[in-house]
Amino acid sequence: MSTADQPRYSPKVFDVATEKEAREIILQGHAPDEIEERWSRETPWFGALIRHSLGLLPESRVLDLGCGIGRLSKWLIDAVGCRVVGVDISEGMRKLAVDYVGSPQFTAVSYESFSADPACGEGFDAAYAVYVLQHVERPDLDIPAIARGMRSGGRFLLVNSRSRWVPTTQGWAQDQFDVFALAANSFVGIHGYVFPKELAVLDDLNNETAINLYRRP
Ligand SMILES: C[S@@+](CC[C@H](N)C(=O)[O-])C[C@H]1O[C@@H](n2cnc3c(N)ncnc32)[C@H](O)[C@@H]1O
Repeated sequence: MSTADQPRYSPKVFDVATEKEAREIILQGHAPDEIEERWSRETPWFGALIRHSLGLLPESRVLDLGCGIGRLSKWLIDAVGCRVVGVDISEGMRKLAVDYVGSPQFTAVSYESFSADPACGEGFDAAYAVYVLQHVERPDLDIPAIARGMRSGGRFLLVNSRSRWVPTTQGWAQDQFDVFALAANSFVGIHGYVFPKELAVLDDLNNETAINLYRRP
């Protein structure tokens, strides 16, 4: 087989132009009402978990890696009044996020800028990545970068599929990376949370989702 036939990493699936397109890829479902149900059920639950597990205060500066349209950034800014920097690989997501969050407390930053300066200027008190690291091409680079951008003692919440879902030219693929082993190399594990079965709109979402809290050494 020529190399042209081999699947190549391609994050085009995240190139979206409208909020509707964005919602369909951010929280997948079998039908539009499942997507909306996931959005309205999961957002306050994860928002409250992020707020309390990371100990967020109005003065906190927080990294939302793979922010999408800012679903959780908006919830946290509205609830806590903290500052959130949303990093996303998709320009379309970043543009939509600025409008969706609609707050001067939010800044959207490109993946290239984050990779060059993971502190995004001032550094972070806390960080989270929700359903993102399962999709990234190089978790072995991105996870140490999250840690480098944070202050010592800061907390990181990882919400992730137990499987890899890497976007390629031939659809979703698995690869050899173990996101949880990589996270344990850069952070100290503090606690694992259970995704409540009653919160799961999709069958088995509760078993498929891992929720781990870490401390930056
Ligand atoms: C499933 S969505 C989750 C969005 C958001 N965290 C949420 O829960 O609402 C995954 C997001 O990760 C972004 N993404 C994928 N690879 C990325 C990378 N290497 N760095 C930053 N963002 C990335 C995508 O563009 C997309 O917006």
